[in-house]
Amino acid sequence: MTSTSSNSAVPTAAIVLAAGTGSRMKSDLPKVMHAIAGRPMINHVLATLAGEKIAPVVVVVAAEMDGLTQAVAPHQTVVQKDRLGTGHAALQAKDALAGFSGDVLIVFGDTPFVGAETLRRMRAARGNASGVRGNAAGVKPTVVVLGFTPRDPGAYGRLIVGAKGLERIVEAKDATADELGVRLCNSGIMLCEAKVLWSLLAGVGNANAKGEYYLTDIVGLARKAGQTCAVVEGDEAELLGINSRAELAEAEAIFQRQYRQRVMAGGATLRAPETVYFSADTQVGRDVEIGPFTVFGPGVVVDDNVIIKGFCHIEGAHLAAGAVVGPYARLRPGADIGRAAHVGNFVEIKNATLEEGAKVNHLSYVGDARIGAKANIGAGTITANYDGFNKTHTDIGVGASIGSNTVLVAPVKVGDGAMTGAGAVVRKDVPADALAVNTARQENLEGFAANYRKQKSASKDKNK
Ligand code: UD1
Ligand code: CA
Repeated sequence: MTSTSSNSAVPTAAIVLAAGTGSRMKSDLPKVMHAIAGRPMINHVLATLAGEKIAPVVVVVAAEMDGLTQAVAPHQTVVQKDRLGTGHAALQAKDALAGFSGDVLIVFGDTPFVGAETLRRMRAARGNASGVRGNAAGVKPTVVVLGFTPRDPGAYGRLIVGAKGLERIVEAKDATADELGVRLCNSGIMLCEAKVLWSLLAGVGNANAKGEYYLTDIVGLARKAGQTCAVVEGDEAELLGINSRAELAEAEAIFQRQYRQRVMAGGATLRAPETVYFSADTQVGRDVEIGPFTVFGPGVVVDDNVIIKGFCHIEGAHLAAGAVVGPYARLRPGADIGRAAHVGNFVEIKNATLEEGAKVNHLSYVGDARIGAKANIGAGTITANYDGFNKTHTDIGVGASIGSNTVLVAPVKVGDGAMTGAGAVVRKDVPADALAVNTARQENLEGFAANYRKQKSASKDKNK
């Protein structure tokens, strides 16, 4: 009999360990603040916990990690003053969880992809005597450890399983050659009843290769006290621990592969999926086409039937249904591309609204602006929105036609249906349906070009 549903009702809090130096990252940024798909890795973990209603969440940080404290807000943080190991780190959350009497899940900020379904299986295993690898029949496990079998067990702790279930965890640095041969590894993630956890942690010492208080020791201590421990297994792709830039890149690749699949499963066509990069929050509708080498920064929403030709860089932008963007377009935060609007090559749009059917097709910068419905912005148009001190707004009316190479010196308004001549420098508002021209009038010198060529070729002959 499984008791998944009843057991998942056990209130579960979480401790997220994030105080490690991350020395192998060689970075001034705390390791868990390094981003995957545009989101600090710790925020991936927090999102998963939130989805499982695991609360409260206490994040263990080190001193002077203000950026991290902000990134995890409103979750509570506690400071681990000396980084004495994962066991010591977990113990720092004891006071913060003083009033809490359910189960406590310990997760690592550097293991960002642990899946919700895996956490559910761990919670089910805590209340379940059977069906868990290595569990002795009939006894509910005190500690449930999430294990996995990586292709390269490397520096991961090894799970030593005996006849009565999980016996202990040995860190790679402390392991014998035989133990290093064990392929079943510790993901670091554990689940234990709060009260039991505090008493087990109190018994952890630091007589080991690193001289640290290892969280992993609670398994051996529980066994010594006659309790049982169990292993639930997950996939390598979700349990990869990130300690170096190379592992960060590997995690990014895993995320991108999965997200591309998800976007395609949602009804979008990716012409060359392996060249498209998403953020963790990119939303893509149905019948969207995304060309090669397109990068989505955070905060992008793409509605149905949008075409994004290749080589675009898009962040903080909304693309309404039927919009056509690129190739080589850059949409920056606040770009709101209306229905069936077009943004062409070498166009940069920032904090600007293109209303339905508006077109900015070539070589333009549109910032802090509204472009009215069906307006056409000629090649090379620039909104001069910054005077070195302030940003100001440009407003282009419905159906307006902006001539090529127009400079719109903001703040300025071009009325509905108005036009500007090619090369205009527009410093004053243009009334509706007017034409603004301010380039010098053209003079044609009849025959000048022919005479010029004749003269020049004669002098060239003499010089020979
Ligand atoms: C740890 C496990 C190892 C497991 C591996 C999985 C221990 C002793 N070892 O090793 O069995 O296979 O994770 O990825 O638990 N941290 C603190 N304070 C500290 C030390 C660490 O908050 O004093 C945090 C780190 O920020 C990190 C996490 O704990 O998020 C893990 O620490 P790390 O040093 O990366 O442990 P590993 O050596 O990878
Ligand atoms: Ca680690």
